[in-house]
Amino acid sequence: MNVIMLAPGYPGEMPYFCRALAQQGAKVYGLSDVAYKDLPALTRENLSGYLHVASFTDEDAVVRQVVQAVGANTIDRVVCMWEPGVLLAARLREALGTPGQGVEQATTFRNKDVMKQVITKAGLRTARHAAATSIAQVKEAAESIGFPVIVKPIAGAGSMDTFRAGSMAELEAELAKVTSYDEVNVEEFIEGDEYTYDTICVDGEVKYENVCFYRPNPLIARTHEWISPQTLALRDLSPAPVAGGIALGRSVLEAMGFQTGFTHMEFFWTPKGEAVFGEIAARPPGAHTVDLMNFVGDVDLFMGYAEAELKGTFSQSTERKYNACNIFKRAQGQGRITRIEGLQHLMERYGEHIVHIDLLPVGAERRNWVLTLVSDGYVVVRHPDLQACMDISDAVGTELRLVAG
Ligand SMILES: Nc1ncnc2c1ncn2[C@@H]1O[C@H](COP(=O)(O)OP(=O)(O)O)[C@@H](O)[C@H]1O
Ligand SMILES: [Mg+2]
Repeated sequence: MNVIMLAPGYPGEMPYFCRALAQQGAKVYGLSDVAYKDLPALTRENLSGYLHVASFTDEDAVVRQVVQAVGANTIDRVVCMWEPGVLLAARLREALGTPGQGVEQATTFRNKDVMKQVITKAGLRTARHAAATSIAQVKEAAESIGFPVIVKPIAGAGSMDTFRAGSMAELEAELAKVTSYDEVNVEEFIEGDEYTYDTICVDGEVKYENVCFYRPNPLIARTHEWISPQTLALRDLSPAPVAGGIALGRSVLEAMGFQTGFTHMEFFWTPKGEAVFGEIAARPPGAHTVDLMNFVGDVDLFMGYAEAELKGTFSQSTERKYNACNIFKRAQGQGRITRIEGLQHLMERYGEHIVHIDLLPVGAERRNWVLTLVSDGYVVVRHPDLQACMDISDAVGTELRLVAG
């Protein structure tokens, strides 16, 4: 099978997807905006060819270049696991006559307003919402939806440029700070805990599913630097919030008409016990969550995905043995990491449950914690018992300290 993979080197998990596709028998042709020599070694080792384009933003030019490079060859799949490339991948499928998600469906996965229209039409619960392209429209939408509201870019990711406003005065103050977006979505503020619902599907059938609990909600985590945000993959999928979210998620996939590949949905669980749709993407979750899911069942979902995509089967185990938690760390102070404190003590107490450590080393420049959830590194904890997993994760959150300056 000939597979075109967009962005085969970035984000960090992509080389593993690239390798898995090759190991499942595909010839993988990479497509991205970096020079071949700058791709990760693992990506290069698993590519059968590579097309370097100047930029992903000029989609017309990329489509022309790819069509020309492909010539009379057949492309069996175009895959993209990176959010900004999802629509371009759909355009390429249409231009090349390749099966899989087309432009119309990809748009419903990328545009937060169109997405919510589809969900509402299917009779599923989501925030009341309106798209707006001017300050006047934002204010008008907020008035009719009612405060508090959330305002966010229509095709955003990672809580970027997203804010909550409790009143018209707060809304005006926030809008005064914003300079950059063209179109926004204004939404009713939903009170509740936030979870993910992640799947691998084949022809519309869910073959693998997962739920993660965000501690705390992403917008809060993104607002306060001192927080060590956690993504906690839950072993038990039967308690009410989890089962309620899964039922909602399955209906959402059906309403969206999703067929084959990875999906990543977010939902709220309200104090009244209702699952409310947040958003959905036609790609795996980021921030090392695929590895986190792998730790839950000692499986390889890179291979599981590749098998589903190429062969239409899924043979990884779906047994859930552990709760697994990513704890993301942000250093105190600016500049370079100067010390890491508390790690040895944590390892002495909980070592057998700490399954992965990936922290910036002393001397490294801090990352921008607003731009990347992974921040200055992360630790993975896993335990069969949920409370124990949360206790150890909280200990990592408070007792492990990275200091910069
Ligand atoms: N309608 C809403 N009600 C309450 N919180 C929201 C709402 N929309 C977004 N948020 C908060 O903002 C975060 C980011 O919004 P989201 O729609 O997930 O966009 P993205 O993750 O693509 O930036 C959410 O995880 C949530 O914490
Ligand atoms: Mg989100």
